Formats: sequence, C-alpha cells, structure tokens
Amino acid sequence: MNQDIKEVLISEEALKQRVSELGKAISERYKGQELLMIGVLKGANVFMSDLMRAVSVPIQIDFIAASSYGSSTESSGVVRIVKDLDYSIEGKHVMIVEDIIDTGLTLKYLYDNFSARKPASLSIISLLDKPERRKVELTVDYTGFVIPDEFIVGYGIDYAEKYRNLPFVATLKAEVYTK
Ligand code: PRP
Ligand code: MN
Ligand code: MG
Repeated sequence: MNQDIKEVLISEEALKQRVSELGKAISERYKGQELLMIGVLKGANVFMSDLMRAVSVPIQIDFIAASSYGSSTESSGVVRIVKDLDYSIEGKHVMIVEDIIDTGLTLKYLYDNFSARKPASLSIISLLDKPERRKVELTVDYTGFVIPDEFIVGYGIDYAEKYRNLPFVATLKAEVYTK
C-alpha cells in the first residue's frame, strides 16, 4: 500500500490539529444544543469518528449512502440514495459531514433533500475541498483544508475502495491509477 503513495499531503498531526480546531468551533456554535451529525458513507466515516469526539455538545449520529448515476469517472449529477437515514431529522440541528467536496453534486443533492425534511438548522462540514472542480454553488460552513485538484487518498478516502485506512491524506503515484 505505502509503495503506491507519491507524497503525504496532510500529515496525521496536521489532521489531528485541524479536527480539534473544527471541534472547538462547532462546540461554540451549537452551545446549549444537541447536534445530529450525518455522515455520508463511506468516505466520511473516519473524519466523522474523530470529529464527534472533538466536540463537547451532545452528539447523535446517523449515516446516509448516496451514489451518482452514470459513468464512474464523471459524476452525472443525478444522485440516488442507497441507504437512507434511520430517523427523522425534523426539528433537529443537523450537520452533514463529508470527507471531500469535488463537483459538489452529492452535497447539493443531499442538502436540498434534507432541507425538505424540515430540520431546525442544516449545515455542511467537509474535511477537504477542491474548489477548482466545483460544478454547482454550495455554501460550506466548515472546511478543514482547501486542496489543489490532485488525485488523493487516505483518512477515509479511497481509490477503487482501497487506501481508506491510511492515517494521513496522500497523493497516489500516477502509475497506480493509469494502469
Ligand atoms: C466521494 C466523496 C464524496 C463525493 C464528492 O464519494 O467521498 O462523497 O465523492 O464528489 P462530488 O462533490 O463530485 O459529488 P464516493 O462517491 O466516491 O463514495 P465513497 O464515499 O463511498 O468513496
Ligand atoms: Mn463519499
Ligand atoms: Mg469513493
């Protein structure tokens, strides 16, 4: 696995530090309230696990799985819910937790879908953001790191379902994804 890595882009230490900062900001904003974090499977799993332990207000969690129709390399913009939430979010303070925003199509769809379910409030947090790739407008409340348009893996993010368990975010050697 490690021989496939080109360069560590965000170290384990830097991730820890940023997650802790985000946790403090979220704790301030939701002071005196309960927060429902919704993780977008599967990529957000690692980030959300660390993030919820960095927040001091009471947290509930749920997960949603979505997939884009169409070719696997370019997102079509049509999103399908593969696994829906277990519970209603009506009247709750909800935060959608993502690992990365690329075109923004997944989050745009989920944001609009969740808005219609009448939460008390709805916000978005993403560990990583690639603004160069954005296709739709999106208001992101919290971002961990803005990154260039490079092929990255680790800390939940996969290439062909691999590398999610790397404790850092790294770029892959080109020969790994071109062969
Ligand atoms: C990736 C990533 C985001 C989404 C971002 O998920 O984790 O959820 O794509 O892309 P977008 O902004 O262009 O919509 P993926 O569909 O690969 O599923 P996974 O989380 O299970 O890896
Ligand atoms: Mn994902
Ligand atoms: Mg993926």
